Amino acid sequence: MSLPSKFPKTFKFATATAAYQIEGATRLDGRGISTWDEIRAEPGRIHDNSPADLSCEGRLKYKEDVDLLARIGVTSYRFSISWSRILPDGTLSKINEDGVQFYRDLCLLLRDNGIEPIVTLFHFDMPLAIYDNGTSWLNRENCDHFAAFANLCFERFGDLVKTWITFNEINMHAWSSVVKIEGELWLCPDRPQVENHSHAPYIAATNMLLTHAKIYQDYNKNFKEQQNGVVGITMGGRFCFPASDSSEDIAAANRANDWLFNYTIEPILSESGDFPVSMREKLPFLPKFSEEEKKLIRDSADFIGINYYLSHMVRNISDGEVPTSQHERDASYAFVEGKWDKICGETWVRYAPDGLHELLKYVKQKYNNIPVFITENGCMDLIGDDEKKEEEDVLEDKHRIKYIAGHLEALAKALEEGCNVIGYTVWTLMDNFEWDDGFAVKFGICRVDFDSPDKTRTMKHSAKYYQTFIREFKKHHNIL
Ligand code: NOJ
Repeated sequence: MSLPSKFPKTFKFATATAAYQIEGATRLDGRGISTWDEIRAEPGRIHDNSPADLSCEGRLKYKEDVDLLARIGVTSYRFSISWSRILPDGTLSKINEDGVQFYRDLCLLLRDNGIEPIVTLFHFDMPLAIYDNGTSWLNRENCDHFAAFANLCFERFGDLVKTWITFNEINMHAWSSVVKIEGELWLCPDRPQVENHSHAPYIAATNMLLTHAKIYQDYNKNFKEQQNGVVGITMGGRFCFPASDSSEDIAAANRANDWLFNYTIEPILSESGDFPVSMREKLPFLPKFSEEEKKLIRDSADFIGINYYLSHMVRNISDGEVPTSQHERDASYAFVEGKWDKICGETWVRYAPDGLHELLKYVKQKYNNIPVFITENGCMDLIGDDEKKEEEDVLEDKHRIKYIAGHLEALAKALEEGCNVIGYTVWTLMDNFEWDDGFAVKFGICRVDFDSPDKTRTMKHSAKYYQTFIREFKKHHNIL
């Protein structure tokens, strides 16, 4: 049986982008300034010093991009709606109808091409105006502003969009980018009111979680009957394996899984409606949910999204040892280098399809086999190779084909074992703005020529591999 034929007919094969990473056109059609516009303008902040207005111009080139998606043959396309493009100052005081029209046009074009939109509401950027007024995920006002934006999106796009993702990687965002300053949160001079900065990531994650829950309940109450869509949330996923079979290392790996994964899922999917017990034990300051909040959060997801790039090997720490990162310190564990292939050289990505398989089995068992959508999976070009290589070599991304194929195999195995996986998404459609790394790190299955005036897109070999894979899948199931 070929690999594509192991996937059920209803399985979704997607690729993804996020508004800030591809759109550009930051001053077009009434878009407001976003926090990331300002971050990029800070000299030296983005590692490759790329100019603040460089982009792949996704806002202007969306027709061409839908055509590219159609040629690859994906069933679904995950993208995010820019809060600043819809609400320039972050609030309902002004709705930018041109921005609304843009996303409607995109959705309509996707529909004409038989591609299902999967929409993320928060993918790391937010309107600068509300941030500068003192709101951020560190306080509850942001929750109200964001929930208003989400409701507006349901109202304006809900006839065309049936799969919603409230947040992308709360766990990651809370640790690294809740404030505009790079690095750990206690270094955030622009948020002096946060008294104890080491509490900040936990406060931010709690606020995002409560906002997610409110949005989920709003959808069910006000839109579900008419629109019949589903609402989920995407987690950064990785599986932490113990470095040895000692009970201390096993307990450390369990704690690491709590901090890095269960943290933002357990309140939603467990009986207790609360954070993991290990976190409650170690963090007396962890915000407490009221009974009403627990009711709001419990079961507030129709599916979970998982972005999967790597797994970890974890050990217990010895007495007096102080690990480098805050969550290692808070949870008393330390990372050790695992056995996995550094498929992109000295970067953070690892080729660990076995970790994805483990994670899916874990979710099946721990969370009652809730539907799981792999909302991101992918790897970067080999770092440092880009300048040296001829264009043809850049397009010949064998390592990425190996990476995607290995994870598809892991999924097929998990499906065979009864895991409720409903979709897979390659990150990302095209080379784009990789946050702090700028354009130096490229995850695209299509190359973008950033030097050309029209930012020409060209399929890398991995896009062609994915195209052939999906074609065989469709052929097997007689999908036209
Ligand atoms: C996850 C994030 O959602 C995405 O924005 C980012 O580009 C990829 N990881 C790769 O780092």
